[in-house]
Amino acid sequence: MAETNRRILSGMRSTNPRLHLGNYEGALRNWVDLQNEGYDLFCMVADLHALTTMAENSGEVSRNAREIAKDYIAAGIDPAKSVVFIQSHVPEHSEAHVLLSMMTPLGWLERTPTYKEKQTDLGGAEREPYGLLGYPVLQTVDILLYKPYGVPVGRDQAPHLEIGNDIALRFNRITGKEVFAPYKYLIPEDENRAKLPGLDMRKMSKSYDNCIYLSDSEDETAEKLKSAFTTPTKLRKTDPGIPEGCAVCQYLRVYSPNWEAAWNEDRAGERGCMQSKKEATEAINEYLRPMRERRKELDGDAIEDILRDGAKRAREFAGATLAEMRAAMGMY
Ligand code: TYM
Repeated sequence: MAETNRRILSGMRSTNPRLHLGNYEGALRNWVDLQNEGYDLFCMVADLHALTTMAENSGEVSRNAREIAKDYIAAGIDPAKSVVFIQSHVPEHSEAHVLLSMMTPLGWLERTPTYKEKQTDLGGAEREPYGLLGYPVLQTVDILLYKPYGVPVGRDQAPHLEIGNDIALRFNRITGKEVFAPYKYLIPEDENRAKLPGLDMRKMSKSYDNCIYLSDSEDETAEKLKSAFTTPTKLRKTDPGIPEGCAVCQYLRVYSPNWEAAWNEDRAGERGCMQSKKEATEAINEYLRPMRERRKELDGDAIEDILRDGAKRAREFAGATLAEMRAAMGMY
């Protein structure tokens, strides 16, 4: 009987030293659940992907990577069960990236929505690094090297995952060998978690400065919630609210067991936004308290040991897949 594949791979870019609630709801929360259900996780920090926009600050990218690994562990990733590693510590990713980049049509990459957005932000081909175009190829490598059953991510990663499965099929077709099988996209069913809104109701994202960070203090969280976006036409408690369009009500829905009653009262003009903000602050702080405590106890040396061990375990698996890729291509 074929062995059941229970491997899972996912990653986060180290553009920032801290993960936010969107990263947690879209991805990390699922990682922890999958780990606790007995799946074998590879939890990567994507420092090379961070370099596509931060090559001038490579030292910072590397320092951030350690902080992100701390967030993984504080959130419940157990390095005794799951492999935690930094992408560039596993050089097999770079070699496999070169091989797959020879088989990926340029048109697929140019059509990627995230590429088009970043290209516009950067302001022209002279400023745009060559590596940015290959971003989804590198992401595909990250995934395929571990031959996972599934990849848990937020909704915004869906286009990259689609290209990844297309590249896998293309590799098999070109080489005539079944090296890669399609993997599943594990995106939260709840749309609110798959794309968690930020304090201003746009998608929560570091670049919009609208984030609640996992490692924010309780006071910082309270301050942020005070200025969060609510129903603009609800000026008084008695004005009816529209909870679907209110950031605070969205957080209540994710973190408060009494969210339905709160939403009904909001709609009926029976509760003020201040009350909702207070309740959302309490619910978020209570939810994050154990993670925040654990994070304070993690020391830098312990993280280096975890990452060294993680890279070793990741290299064993990635090395075997890379050897298979080379063999399939007839390269020796
Ligand atoms: P990144 O670093 O932008 O985001 C990390 C993860 O957080 C999710 N996410 C969100 N989910 C819900 N609501 C939000 N507001 C929100 N903001 C971010 C993202 O969907 C993602 O799951 N390209 C990837 C990193 C990567 C990767 C990989 C992922 C590199 N290699 C291999 C999976 C597999 C990225 O930039 O994620």
